Amino acid sequence: MCGIIGILTKNDDVVPQIMNGLKLLEYRGYDSAGLAVLDEDGQLERRRASGKISALAEKISADPVSGKVGIGHTRWATHGPATEMNAHPLATSKVAVVHNGIIENFQEIKQDLLAQGCEFESQTDSEVAAKLMHKYLHEGMSPEEATMAVLGRLEGAFSLAFLFADRPDLLIGARRGSPLAVGWGKELMCLGSDALAVGPLSAKIAYLDDDDWVVLTNEDAIIRTSSGKAVRRASTPVDPNFQVNLGKSGYRHFMLKEMHEQPQVVGDTLSTLLEGKEGRLRLPELPFELEKASRLNIVSCGTSYYASLVGKYWIENLAQMPVDTDLASEFRYRRPVLDPNGISLFISQSGETADTLAALRHCKSRNQRLLSLVNVKDSSLAREADGTLLTMAGPEFGVASTKAFTAQLTMLAALAVTLGAKRGLISEPEQFRLVRLLMEIPAHMAEILTKAPVIEAISKNVIAPARDVLYLGRGQNYPLALEGALKLKELSYIHAEGYAAGEIKHGPIALVDETVPVVVLAPSDSLFPKIMSNLEVVRARGGQVIFMGDNRGYERLTDEPTAKIILSQVDPFVTPLIFALPVQLLAYYAAVFKGTDVDQPRNLAKSVTVE
Ligand code: M6R
Repeated sequence: MCGIIGILTKNDDVVPQIMNGLKLLEYRGYDSAGLAVLDEDGQLERRRASGKISALAEKISADPVSGKVGIGHTRWATHGPATEMNAHPLATSKVAVVHNGIIENFQEIKQDLLAQGCEFESQTDSEVAAKLMHKYLHEGMSPEEATMAVLGRLEGAFSLAFLFADRPDLLIGARRGSPLAVGWGKELMCLGSDALAVGPLSAKIAYLDDDDWVVLTNEDAIIRTSSGKAVRRASTPVDPNFQVNLGKSGYRHFMLKEMHEQPQVVGDTLSTLLEGKEGRLRLPELPFELEKASRLNIVSCGTSYYASLVGKYWIENLAQMPVDTDLASEFRYRRPVLDPNGISLFISQSGETADTLAALRHCKSRNQRLLSLVNVKDSSLAREADGTLLTMAGPEFGVASTKAFTAQLTMLAALAVTLGAKRGLISEPEQFRLVRLLMEIPAHMAEILTKAPVIEAISKNVIAPARDVLYLGRGQNYPLALEGALKLKELSYIHAEGYAAGEIKHGPIALVDETVPVVVLAPSDSLFPKIMSNLEVVRARGGQVIFMGDNRGYERLTDEPTAKIILSQVDPFVTPLIFALPVQLLAYYAAVFKGTDVDQPRNLAKSVTVE
């Protein structure tokens, strides 16, 4: 889950472009960063720093470096702490390498090389790639021959970029498991972990397949398979106006900006599915009839998993289609029984999450039909699935998923309605009514955003001082309790747990005393009386109740809660989309008050590309 980039030109200094690319890749990890270029004498020059890209920028401004070919890296530490010594590029006098992924047999290779007198400077797994490459070059192999030899030795998942001393006209990249894109630009060639980094430099982009490697020269990029055979991989043109807005548009944090983009994002996602004005939905063309599947098997991680849980409620309720939901990291290891007539759906913002990708490949090997629901069009999950549902959230830079989550919910709600209609369970007028409810969501979200000061005060006075916080929800809003707790944990480092409200009496109630805020998600739907009983149980133990619901529900409370967040009264169908925002805002402001790094919380990365 690191980000890598490599750039080769004839004319310009590539350092500013590498730094810009690293900024775009920083979401993949921010433990350390580094770059290497060839100086005018063809010697390798490195600059590395522990911490974020800004620390590397300071290093470079204190000790400038320039070159026409170079590689860069932003790290999420796996092997060895986030020190400068462990920062990439790892190098010898002949070669520098940047690596994303894990080389699983590095200990074995390292022992072998140590026995041959080789010395190591870092604790990383990645350094063996540099040392092996050096050894093969030293033995007289060409960079191309040495690359094939190195790749033959490595096990695990990786994307790599190699820069060679005395070869200002050459960069070599390789991939197995981790993504690598190649870009053809104006008098420039480049490679990188994703289209965000490579796109702004390129007129067209191609993605390497697993076990491909690529030789970049000033003239072209030649992609080869593991046997060395040159191959063509489909390339896509880059829109000449393609630009990534790295600004926060006046917001204090990316997360705040992205939360405010949700009305737009929900509307945009919905509008890709609407046909005509009445409210008829049309899913993208798929190579199978989804509504005829006997079962839907949804696999995902983190926030995307919580979206899948809501999707299960919706799809089972509206389309009467059985749905299984799995955490991708558990899925393959429980020997799942897959229905031959079922369809597997993989939900992921990035489309690159290693566990989810591994689950997709497992399902592929079991002849399942594969559908992805992603926010990144050309991501690995989108490319490897048989069909794709694309959300319109746009790039999300805050590590905490916000607008991507509500876009996923929008797509799942639309999917449930469509399946219900196609399976003859929802009449046309009912379909139009449900779609209208979805179309009203942006307005409701905009209204919730105006309540931010109320939520901010609750965060400051009740949540931020707490050591533990509980979130309770029922039915389709139970996953929102889980999501609320995840948001609070990852952003503010406050311990939080989400529970199905009915479960609290089976154990978690023991945690409740007057120091524990309990956030109760209580829409006034058919389950309202039940959740009120759960709320009373909490109150009887002195817990601080934060009521989240509509006015009608609030008026039914017998006692005043510690705090209340009053939301628009909406049809029960769409309540998960309504509750998503206040739970995000509650966590956001708690983090701001605690002074944590909101956009890049400790130990995390946006895209988790290791298993
Ligand atoms: O890109 P994905 O949706 O596959 O990512 C899954 C999780 O890593 C992600 O949702 C993570 O849990 C977020 N930090 C939650 O805010």
